[in-house]
Amino acid sequence: MSVEALKGRDLLSLADLNTSEVLSLLDLAVALKAGKVRSRCCKVLGLLFRKASTRTRVSFSVAMYQLGGQVIDLNTSTTQVSRGEPTIDTARVLDRYLDILAIRTYEQQELETFAHYSQIPIINALTDLEHPCQVLADLLTIQERFGGLEGLTLAYLGDGNNVAHSLMLGCALVGMNVRVATPKEYQPDQAIAQLAKKLAGDRTQILLTSDPEAAADGAHVLYTDVWSSMGQEDLAATRIPIFQPYQVNQRLLDAADSRAIVLHCLPAHRGEEITDEVMEGSHSQIWDQAENRLHAQKALLVSLLGAD
Ligand code: CP
Ligand code: NVA
Repeated sequence: MSVEALKGRDLLSLADLNTSEVLSLLDLAVALKAGKVRSRCCKVLGLLFRKASTRTRVSFSVAMYQLGGQVIDLNTSTTQVSRGEPTIDTARVLDRYLDILAIRTYEQQELETFAHYSQIPIINALTDLEHPCQVLADLLTIQERFGGLEGLTLAYLGDGNNVAHSLMLGCALVGMNVRVATPKEYQPDQAIAQLAKKLAGDRTQILLTSDPEAAADGAHVLYTDVWSSMGQEDLAATRIPIFQPYQVNQRLLDAADSRAIVLHCLPAHRGEEITDEVMEGSHSQIWDQAENRLHAQKALLVSLLGAD
Protein backbone atom coordinates (compact mmCIF):
# COMPACT_ATOMS: atom_id res chain seq x y z
CA MET A 1 0.00 0.00 0.00
CA SER A 2 1.26 3.50 -0.78
CA VAL A 3 0.82 6.07 1.98
CA GLU A 4 -1.25 8.05 -0.55
CA ALA A 5 -4.00 5.46 -0.02
CA LEU A 6 -4.83 7.08 3.32
CA LYS A 7 -4.89 10.66 2.00
CA GLY A 8 -7.98 12.54 3.12
CA ARG A 9 -9.30 9.67 5.26
CA ASP A 10 -10.47 9.84 8.89
CA LEU A 11 -9.13 7.73 11.75
CA LEU A 12 -12.04 7.46 14.18
CA SER A 13 -11.39 3.82 15.05
CA LEU A 14 -8.51 1.40 14.43
CA ALA A 15 -11.05 -0.61 12.49
CA ASP A 16 -11.02 2.21 9.90
CA LEU A 17 -7.70 0.68 8.78
CA ASN A 18 -7.08 -2.72 7.24
CA THR A 19 -4.15 -5.00 7.98
CA SER A 20 -2.01 -3.76 5.10
CA GLU A 21 -2.65 -0.12 6.05
CA VAL A 22 -1.61 -0.71 9.68
CA LEU A 23 1.57 -2.52 8.60
CA SER A 24 2.40 0.21 6.06
CA LEU A 25 1.97 2.89 8.72
CA LEU A 26 4.34 0.96 11.00
CA ASP A 27 6.88 0.65 8.15
CA LEU A 28 6.67 4.39 7.52
CA ALA A 29 7.05 5.12 11.26
CA VAL A 30 10.18 2.92 11.35
CA ALA A 31 11.64 4.77 8.34
CA LEU A 32 10.79 8.20 9.78
CA LYS A 33 12.24 7.23 13.16
CA ALA A 34 15.48 6.09 11.51
CA GLY A 35 15.67 9.30 9.47
CA LYS A 36 15.54 7.19 6.29
CA VAL A 37 12.70 9.22 4.83
CA ARG A 38 12.06 12.89 5.29
CA SER A 39 8.68 14.33 4.66
CA ARG A 40 7.84 18.04 4.56
CA CYS A 41 4.50 19.74 4.77
CA CYS A 42 3.24 23.26 5.39
CA LYS A 43 -0.18 22.25 6.64
CA VAL A 44 -2.01 23.20 9.83
CA LEU A 45 -3.17 20.70 12.47
CA GLY A 46 -5.85 21.65 15.00
CA LEU A 47 -5.96 19.98 18.41
CA LEU A 48 -9.46 20.15 19.91
CA PHE A 49 -9.19 18.53 23.33
CA ARG A 50 -11.98 18.28 25.92
CA LYS A 51 -9.78 16.18 28.24
CA ALA A 52 -6.26 16.61 29.65
CA SER A 53 -3.29 15.30 27.68
CA THR A 54 0.48 15.34 27.91
CA ARG A 55 1.74 12.71 25.43
CA THR A 56 -0.88 13.05 22.71
CA ARG A 57 -0.82 16.84 22.69
CA VAL A 58 2.99 17.13 22.72
CA SER A 59 3.75 14.24 20.35
CA PHE A 60 1.22 15.43 17.75
CA SER A 61 2.60 18.98 18.04
CA VAL A 62 6.25 17.95 17.77
CA ALA A 63 5.46 15.59 14.88
CA MET A 64 3.78 18.41 12.98
CA TYR A 65 6.60 20.89 13.70
CA GLN A 66 9.23 18.36 12.61
CA LEU A 67 7.32 17.91 9.36
CA GLY A 68 7.40 21.68 8.81
CA GLY A 69 3.71 22.22 9.61
CA GLN A 70 1.93 24.31 12.24
CA VAL A 71 -0.34 23.45 15.17
CA ILE A 72 -3.25 25.35 16.72
CA ASP A 73 -4.20 24.24 20.22
CA LEU A 74 -7.97 24.70 20.31
CA ASN A 75 -8.49 24.71 24.05
CA THR A 76 -12.20 24.07 24.46
CA SER A 77 -12.43 26.52 27.38
CA THR A 78 -11.22 29.47 25.27
CA THR A 79 -13.23 28.73 22.14
CA GLN A 80 -16.97 29.05 21.62
CA VAL A 81 -17.18 25.29 22.14
CA SER A 82 -17.35 25.97 25.90
CA ARG A 83 -20.35 28.29 25.29
CA GLY A 84 -22.24 25.53 23.57
CA GLU A 85 -21.76 26.33 19.87
CA PRO A 86 -23.30 23.34 18.09
CA THR A 87 -20.77 20.75 16.91
CA ILE A 88 -22.23 20.80 13.40
CA ASP A 89 -21.39 24.53 13.17
CA THR A 90 -17.91 24.33 14.73
CA ALA A 91 -17.06 21.38 12.48
CA ARG A 92 -17.97 23.22 9.27
CA VAL A 93 -16.04 26.35 10.29
CA LEU A 94 -12.85 24.57 11.39
CA ASP A 95 -13.00 22.62 8.13
CA ARG A 96 -12.54 25.92 6.25
CA TYR A 97 -9.34 26.87 8.16
CA LEU A 98 -7.49 23.69 9.07
CA ASP A 99 -5.92 20.90 7.02
CA ILE A 100 -6.39 18.19 9.64
CA LEU A 101 -8.00 17.99 13.09
CA ALA A 102 -7.27 15.71 16.06
CA ILE A 103 -10.04 15.54 18.68
CA ARG A 104 -10.00 14.23 22.25
CA THR A 105 -13.46 13.98 23.72
CA TYR A 106 -15.94 11.78 25.58
CA GLU A 107 -18.51 10.51 23.10
CA GLN A 108 -17.45 8.73 19.92
CA GLN A 109 -20.58 10.28 18.40
CA GLU A 110 -19.05 13.77 18.61
CA LEU A 111 -16.14 12.55 16.50
CA GLU A 112 -18.53 10.98 14.01
CA THR A 113 -20.36 14.29 13.74
CA PHE A 114 -17.11 16.19 13.10
CA ALA A 115 -16.18 13.65 10.43
CA HIS A 116 -19.60 13.93 8.81
CA TYR A 117 -19.52 17.73 8.60
CA SER A 118 -15.82 18.10 7.60
CA GLN A 119 -13.87 17.34 4.46
CA ILE A 120 -10.52 17.38 6.29
CA PRO A 121 -9.21 14.22 8.00
CA ILE A 122 -10.45 13.81 11.59
CA ILE A 123 -8.22 11.86 13.98
CA ASN A 124 -9.43 10.20 17.17
CA ALA A 125 -6.99 11.46 19.82
CA LEU A 126 -8.98 9.46 22.46
CA THR A 127 -12.65 9.02 23.16
CA ASP A 128 -14.39 6.96 25.83
CA LEU A 129 -14.59 4.20 23.21
CA GLU A 130 -11.15 4.11 21.58
CA HIS A 131 -7.55 5.34 21.56
CA PRO A 132 -6.27 4.26 18.12
CA CYS A 133 -3.17 6.52 17.98
CA GLN A 134 -1.93 4.99 21.23
CA VAL A 135 -2.21 1.50 19.80
CA LEU A 136 -0.29 2.36 16.60
CA ALA A 137 2.61 3.34 18.89
CA ASP A 138 2.11 0.19 20.98
CA LEU A 139 2.31 -2.06 17.92
CA LEU A 140 5.45 -0.23 16.78
CA THR A 141 7.02 -0.87 20.19
CA ILE A 142 6.12 -4.57 20.17
CA GLN A 143 7.42 -4.94 16.60
CA GLU A 144 10.72 -3.28 17.54
CA ARG A 145 11.18 -5.65 20.46
CA PHE A 146 10.15 -8.93 18.83
CA GLY A 147 11.02 -8.23 15.18
CA GLY A 148 7.41 -8.91 14.11
CA LEU A 149 3.86 -9.07 15.42
CA GLU A 150 2.07 -12.08 14.00
CA GLY A 151 1.51 -14.94 16.44
CA LEU A 152 2.49 -12.98 19.57
CA THR A 153 0.15 -12.88 22.57
CA LEU A 154 -0.78 -9.69 24.42
CA ALA A 155 -2.43 -9.85 27.84
CA TYR A 156 -4.30 -6.73 28.87
CA LEU A 157 -5.13 -6.54 32.58
CA GLY A 158 -7.52 -4.07 34.20
CA ASP A 159 -10.48 -2.08 32.94
CA GLY A 160 -12.17 -2.95 29.63
CA ASN A 161 -11.79 0.64 28.47
CA ASN A 162 -10.88 2.70 25.39
CA VAL A 163 -7.27 1.45 25.34
CA ALA A 164 -8.40 -2.17 25.72
CA HIS A 165 -10.82 -1.68 22.81
CA SER A 166 -8.20 -0.28 20.42
CA LEU A 167 -5.72 -2.96 21.48
CA MET A 168 -8.24 -5.69 20.67
CA LEU A 169 -8.85 -4.22 17.21
CA GLY A 170 -5.17 -3.48 16.52
CA CYS A 171 -3.94 -6.90 17.62
CA ALA A 172 -6.70 -8.60 15.61
CA LEU A 173 -5.63 -6.66 12.50
CA VAL A 174 -1.95 -7.65 12.78
CA GLY A 175 -2.49 -11.31 13.73
CA MET A 176 -1.75 -11.12 17.45
CA ASN A 177 -3.65 -13.04 20.12
CA VAL A 178 -5.29 -10.91 22.81
CA ARG A 179 -6.39 -11.91 26.28
CA VAL A 180 -8.33 -9.23 28.14
CA ALA A 181 -8.59 -9.91 31.87
CA THR A 182 -11.06 -7.69 33.74
CA PRO A 183 -13.45 -7.99 36.65
CA LYS A 184 -16.69 -9.46 35.23
CA GLU A 185 -18.62 -6.15 35.40
CA TYR A 186 -15.83 -4.25 33.61
CA GLN A 187 -15.49 -6.28 30.43
CA PRO A 188 -14.89 -4.51 27.13
CA ASP A 189 -17.78 -3.35 24.97
CA GLN A 190 -19.43 -6.39 23.38
CA ALA A 191 -19.72 -4.77 19.95
CA ILE A 192 -15.97 -4.03 19.92
CA ALA A 193 -15.23 -7.59 21.05
CA GLN A 194 -17.38 -8.95 18.23
CA LEU A 195 -15.68 -6.67 15.70
CA ALA A 196 -12.23 -7.74 16.94
CA LYS A 197 -13.23 -11.41 16.62
CA LYS A 198 -14.49 -10.75 13.10
CA LEU A 199 -11.24 -9.00 12.13
CA ALA A 200 -9.18 -11.82 13.69
CA GLY A 201 -11.13 -14.50 11.84
CA ASP A 202 -9.61 -17.88 12.63
CA ARG A 203 -6.06 -16.46 12.53
CA THR A 204 -5.85 -15.42 16.17
CA GLN A 205 -7.66 -15.71 19.48
CA ILE A 206 -9.51 -12.86 21.20
CA LEU A 207 -10.21 -14.03 24.74
CA LEU A 208 -12.18 -12.23 27.47
CA THR A 209 -11.58 -13.60 30.95
CA SER A 210 -11.75 -12.60 34.60
CA ASP A 211 -8.65 -14.65 35.45
CA PRO A 212 -5.47 -12.49 35.45
CA GLU A 213 -3.07 -15.44 35.88
CA ALA A 214 -4.59 -17.31 32.94
CA ALA A 215 -4.27 -14.16 30.81
CA ALA A 216 -0.64 -13.55 31.75
CA ASP A 217 0.44 -17.19 31.34
CA GLY A 218 3.17 -17.30 28.65
CA ALA A 219 2.14 -13.88 27.22
CA HIS A 220 4.70 -11.86 25.27
CA VAL A 221 3.23 -8.50 26.28
CA LEU A 222 1.64 -7.49 29.59
CA TYR A 223 -0.33 -4.28 29.19
CA THR A 224 -2.26 -2.22 31.70
CA ASP A 225 -3.97 1.15 32.00
CA VAL A 226 -5.60 3.15 34.79
CA TRP A 227 -8.55 1.57 36.59
CA SER A 228 -10.57 4.80 36.33
CA SER A 229 -10.33 6.72 33.08
CA MET A 230 -10.78 10.45 32.58
CA GLY A 231 -14.36 11.31 33.51
CA GLN A 232 -14.55 8.42 36.03
CA GLU A 233 -12.44 10.01 38.78
CA ASP A 234 -15.34 9.90 41.26
CA LEU A 235 -15.43 6.09 40.97
CA ALA A 236 -11.72 5.59 41.74
CA ALA A 237 -11.99 4.74 45.45
CA THR A 238 -14.72 2.13 44.85
CA ARG A 239 -12.84 0.55 41.99
CA ILE A 240 -9.43 0.05 43.66
CA PRO A 241 -10.34 -3.08 45.69
CA ILE A 242 -12.26 -4.58 42.74
CA PHE A 243 -9.29 -4.23 40.39
CA GLN A 244 -6.52 -5.15 42.87
CA PRO A 245 -6.17 -8.78 41.57
CA TYR A 246 -5.41 -7.34 38.10
CA GLN A 247 -2.39 -5.30 39.19
CA VAL A 248 0.65 -5.87 36.94
CA ASN A 249 3.27 -6.92 39.48
CA GLN A 250 6.27 -9.26 39.67
CA ARG A 251 4.03 -12.28 40.33
CA LEU A 252 2.10 -11.78 37.08
CA LEU A 253 5.31 -10.99 35.21
CA ASP A 254 6.78 -14.29 36.43
CA ALA A 255 3.84 -16.08 34.76
CA ALA A 256 4.52 -14.43 31.39
CA ASP A 257 7.04 -15.45 28.71
CA SER A 258 10.65 -14.94 29.89
CA ARG A 259 11.13 -12.29 27.12
CA ALA A 260 7.86 -10.52 27.97
CA ILE A 261 7.67 -6.76 27.76
CA VAL A 262 5.47 -4.57 29.94
CA LEU A 263 3.55 -1.67 28.43
CA HIS A 264 1.40 1.09 29.92
CA CYS A 265 -0.11 3.91 27.86
CA LEU A 266 0.49 6.38 30.75
CA PRO A 267 -0.26 8.33 32.85
CA ALA A 268 0.13 5.59 35.49
CA HIS A 269 -1.11 5.34 39.04
CA ARG A 270 1.95 3.64 40.46
CA GLY A 271 1.06 1.15 43.18
CA GLU A 272 -2.44 0.66 41.73
CA GLU A 273 -2.58 -0.92 38.25
CA ILE A 274 1.23 -1.39 38.12
CA THR A 275 3.95 -1.63 40.76
CA ASP A 276 6.98 0.67 40.82
CA GLU A 277 9.16 -2.44 40.63
CA VAL A 278 7.68 -3.59 37.31
CA MET A 279 7.43 -0.10 35.86
CA GLU A 280 11.13 0.52 36.52
CA GLY A 281 12.20 -3.08 35.88
CA SER A 282 14.10 -4.56 32.94
CA HIS A 283 10.96 -5.81 31.16
CA SER A 284 9.40 -2.35 31.00
CA GLN A 285 9.34 -0.77 27.53
CA ILE A 286 7.11 2.06 28.70
CA TRP A 287 9.45 4.93 27.80
CA ASP A 288 10.14 3.61 24.28
CA GLN A 289 6.38 3.17 23.98
CA ALA A 290 5.81 6.81 24.93
CA GLU A 291 8.48 7.96 22.45
CA ASN A 292 6.84 5.93 19.70
CA ARG A 293 3.71 8.07 19.94
CA LEU A 294 5.77 10.69 18.08
CA HIS A 295 6.95 8.37 15.30
CA ALA A 296 3.64 6.55 14.77
CA GLN A 297 1.64 9.78 14.67
CA LYS A 298 4.13 11.40 12.31
CA ALA A 299 3.55 8.47 9.94
CA LEU A 300 -0.19 8.91 10.38
CA LEU A 301 -0.02 12.66 9.64
CA VAL A 302 2.14 12.10 6.53
CA SER A 303 -0.29 9.44 5.30
CA LEU A 304 -3.54 11.30 5.98
CA LEU A 305 -2.24 14.59 4.59
CA GLY A 306 -0.57 13.00 1.57
CA ALA A 307 2.05 14.81 -0.51
CA ASP A 308 1.70 18.59 -0.95
N1 CP B 1 -1.31 7.94 26.66
C1 CP B 1 -1.86 9.15 26.43
O1 CP B 1 -2.71 9.33 25.58
O2 CP B 1 -1.35 10.12 27.23
P1 CP B 1 -1.94 11.58 27.39
O3 CP B 1 -3.27 11.47 28.06
O4 CP B 1 -0.93 12.31 28.24
O5 CP B 1 -2.07 12.21 26.01
N1 NVA C 1 -8.05 5.00 29.67
C1 NVA C 1 -7.35 6.24 29.93
C2 NVA C 1 -6.28 6.46 28.91
C3 NVA C 1 -5.46 7.70 29.11
C4 NVA C 1 -4.44 7.88 28.04
C5 NVA C 1 -8.35 7.38 29.92
O1 NVA C 1 -9.22 7.41 29.04
O2 NVA C 1 -8.27 8.26 30.78
